Parts: sequence; structure tokens; C-alpha cells
Amino acid sequence: MLRGVKRSTYFATCAPGVEPLLHAEVKERGLARHERQVGGVRFEGGAEAMWTANLWLRTAVRVLRREARFEAASEGALDRGVGGVDWSRFLRPDGVLWVDAQSRESALDHTRFLAQRVKDVIVDQLRTDDGVRPSVDRETADLRVHLHVFRDRATLSVDTSGASLHRRGWRTTQGRAPLAETLAAAVVLASGWDRRSPLVDPFCGTGTLLVEGAMIAGGVAPGLTRSRFGFETWAEHDAAGWERARAAAVSAIRLPRKLRLVGHDQEAARVEETRVHLAGHPHLAPLAETALVERARAEDFAPRPGWNAMVVSNLPYGERVGDDVERLHDVFGSRLRELGGYRIALLTGSSRLAGLLRLSRAERHRILNGGIECQLVTASIEG
Ligand SMILES: C[S@@+](CC[C@H](N)C(=O)[O-])C[C@H]1O[C@@H](n2cnc3c(N)ncnc32)[C@H](O)[C@@H]1O
Repeated sequence: MLRGVKRSTYFATCAPGVEPLLHAEVKERGLARHERQVGGVRFEGGAEAMWTANLWLRTAVRVLRREARFEAASEGALDRGVGGVDWSRFLRPDGVLWVDAQSRESALDHTRFLAQRVKDVIVDQLRTDDGVRPSVDRETADLRVHLHVFRDRATLSVDTSGASLHRRGWRTTQGRAPLAETLAAAVVLASGWDRRSPLVDPFCGTGTLLVEGAMIAGGVAPGLTRSRFGFETWAEHDAAGWERARAAAVSAIRLPRKLRLVGHDQEAARVEETRVHLAGHPHLAPLAETALVERARAEDFAPRPGWNAMVVSNLPYGERVGDDVERLHDVFGSRLRELGGYRIALLTGSSRLAGLLRLSRAERHRILNGGIECQLVTASIEG
């Protein structure tokens, strides 16, 4: 068989609420037989599709590849189904393994037991005669396996991404409450930004929205800065093909000449972090040079008249960032209504906080951010 020709079914996962944006990305990348589902998007293809998805999908958290489907109404059936996969394709006997399991409306419904059982079958298959066997650890896993059982039917997948795709590789500091890179990309994509007008974040923190926005404007693939994907350690990995996919992504970069990035934060340390993240990104240097990142309070926010800016931000939520967030939403909302002449896409921690902005004719979308039910508020505010 030629490497990369085999056709597989993939499932790219995302945060709940982000599915329509991920689906649009999957279509834009030309991935075949795509279908939006709860929690992600399904598509089909060979190794090229797997590389494309991992390299390019900005809102995907991980890309799973289906390896087997089987009836699993009993432990024996589960063991046979898991044992039917040749695990030496994915993991060396001294590698590190992690298994996640989910089950609904099924006879086997104890997910910890299921994960343990799948792990045991894989470890037994790979164990060598001299006793070398895979170890188990979530953080350092070389191979993550996902078992999903629904009405006694099991789907067994390998995680092609490895660590979550929000770990792009450009972040050097965490700040206080950084937005996941995948969600920052979702906010920018949902905003309807034209990728030319100024991109302004009045609560920029570590600069996640500005960095992800600049990458979107410049066609910089989000996976380019990442050091390792799950599939790179597989026995069947086609290193030359993967390198070609990466090289094509590098040649596709087209940074806009005059894009203005603007970031404010009330904390000097955050301002510095945003500067470091923009300047340190290996593909964004020209945009970092012209970026305006300054210490300022959102209460004094005033985009320059005529800028026709896109204001993207995630406001302090309270649960994670501290007190007086309600007053801040109220005051910032008044600033926005007073000034006008731009568009906004603001992520905030609850529908109550979104309401405090008092932006009439705004659209609201529900997005789950680390278990917190957030609201993404988008609007055009006339000048
Ligand atoms: C939720 S964090 C933003 C995180 C950012 N999106 C990131 O990914 O790092 C909110 C930020 O708002 C800043 N902040 C809080 N109150 C502010 C105010 N009144 N004016 C300006 N910045 C403020 C905090 O310092 C914090 O960095």
C-alpha cells in the first residue's frame, strides 16, 4: 500500500458552541465528506487530510482517527474489538499511553473501567518477552486512545494530535487567565473581521486574540509553530510527506502590509507579555513592529475616529480574574455605545454579564470555555 493513500474517518473536536465555525474551516480546507456533529466535525481522507486538519484548523482541539467499530455489549466483545487493532503501528513497547472512555445507554457504562480495560488489552499486546511494556500517563502520553460507546456500539479512535491543539507553541507566558488559542481564533472568525481594518483588544492580557488574529490575517497555519503532533511518532508516519505539507503552509503565508494591531491592558506585566508574544512569533515580525500595545484602562477606551476598527476581547469573568467585573461591563458598555463606528466581538462569562454591556441589536452566541458557559457578543456599533 502506498503511504498516505488509505482513507479514514476523522473527527475534529471543538468547544461546545464552536461547531459551526469549525465546520466552516473544514469546508474551506477542502476536507471531504464533512458533517457537523455535536462537539465537532467529521470528515474523511488519507494522511494528507490528517496533516491538513492538524496544521490548519484553528478552532479544533484535537483530531481523532477512527480505527475500529464493533459491538461491545460484553467485556469479551470489548477485548476482542480492541485486540483486533495492531497497536504496534502507533506505540513502541516502551512508549507512554493514555486512554479516555465515554459511554451512554450501554451495558458497559463504567467509563473508568472501560478506559482501564482498553489500556490493559493494548499493554498486553505490546508487552515484550523481556517485560518491557508501555507506561500510562495523561500529560506525557505518546499515544492517546479514545473509546466511545453508544447503545453498545463502540468506536475506537487514536488521537492524531497528541497534546491539545490550543498548544500552538508561540505562548511563552500564561498571564492570569489566558484565553485558549482555539477559542481566541473562534472569536476572531466569528467576528466577521475583514482582516484589514485595525484589530483592537482593550483587555489584551497575554495578547492571544491579537496573535491569533494576526495569524488569520496573514494566512499563518496555527500548527506551524508547534513542535510535535501525535502522528509523528507512529510507525507508519510519512516524514517526507508531512514536511512537504509544512513547507506548503510556510509558502502560503501572506502578511498584510498595513494591518494595525492594538492592545491595551491595565497591568504593565500583561502589556509586556503581549509585546513578547507578538515579537517572539516566528512568522509575525513585521506586524509586531507596527503594533500599538500600551498600558491603559478599558474605562478610558476610545478607538481613533475613522479607524473602523474590529474590537475583539475577552473581558474579566469574575470566576477567574477577580472582583468588580459587573461594574466594568457596565462602564465599558457605556464607552462602546458613546463612541461608535466599529464592530465588536466580545467574549464574556455569562449572559448576565453580556446583558450589562447593554448593547442593543447585538447577537449573542453560547460558547463553553473550560466548563464556563460564556457568551460571545457580536455587533456593529454605528458612529
Ligand atoms: C480575561 S483576561 C484577558 C485574557 C487575554 N484574552 C489572554 O488571552 O491573555 C482580562 C484582562 O483584562 C485586564 N483588565 C482587567 N480590568 C481592566 C481594566 N479596567 N482595564 C484594562 N484592562 C483590564 C486584566 O489585567 C486581564 O489581563
